[in-house]
Amino acid sequence: MTTVQTPISVSIAPMDKDNLDIGKEVSTFETKNFNLFYGEKQALHGVNIKIPEHRVTAFIGPSGCGKSTLLRSFNRMNDLVDNVRIEGEILLGGKDIHHPKVDVSNLRRQVGMVFQRPNPFPKSIYENVGYGLRLQGVNQRSILDDKVEWALKGPPCGTR
Ligand SMILES: Nc1ncnc2c1ncn2[C@@H]1O[C@H](COP(=O)(O)OP(=O)(O)O)[C@@H](O)[C@H]1O
Ligand SMILES: [Mg+2]
Repeated sequence: MTTVQTPISVSIAPMDKDNLDIGKEVSTFETKNFNLFYGEKQALHGVNIKIPEHRVTAFIGPSGCGKSTLLRSFNRMNDLVDNVRIEGEILLGGKDIHHPKVDVSNLRRQVGMVFQRPNPFPKSIYENVGYGLRLQGVNQRSILDDKVEWALKGPPCGTR
């Protein structure tokens, strides 16, 4: 049996941490004086951070310090939590993700999140798997059937 290898082009930012100058890196996300409140309780306090592109960035801190809250803010998942109020800005590619003209579904298509535990919607397995396609306006049964079957028969998510 012959194995056909697809050439993969990878561009890697220099890994030399001594030369890492965050001010010179291109940012994907940038937050400006970002505050987040759950009701009366303030969870994020004036966060100013730039996330450089093509790098792995980790948030490290004690439980409850706001890591998940900040991550959820990047694709506006906190919009779905009752009594959340924000102040300040989050920019993606220089654009304010809270601008009224931003289509939140589009934002979430661009900014994905992998959860510790699977969190399906209260729908059938078929509808959960096909949800992304439906969001993109694909409703033709034959296409959905094919894609859902392909997704369910394939290797687990993230290993393809
Ligand atoms: N849905 C919520 N409603 C009210 N308070 C919350 C909610 N989610 C998180 N918090 C509070 O916000 C703070 C930050 O929590 P979180 O972002 O989960 O921290 P981390 O991920 O660093 O453990 C904690 O005090 C937590 O109790
Ligand atoms: Mg957390």
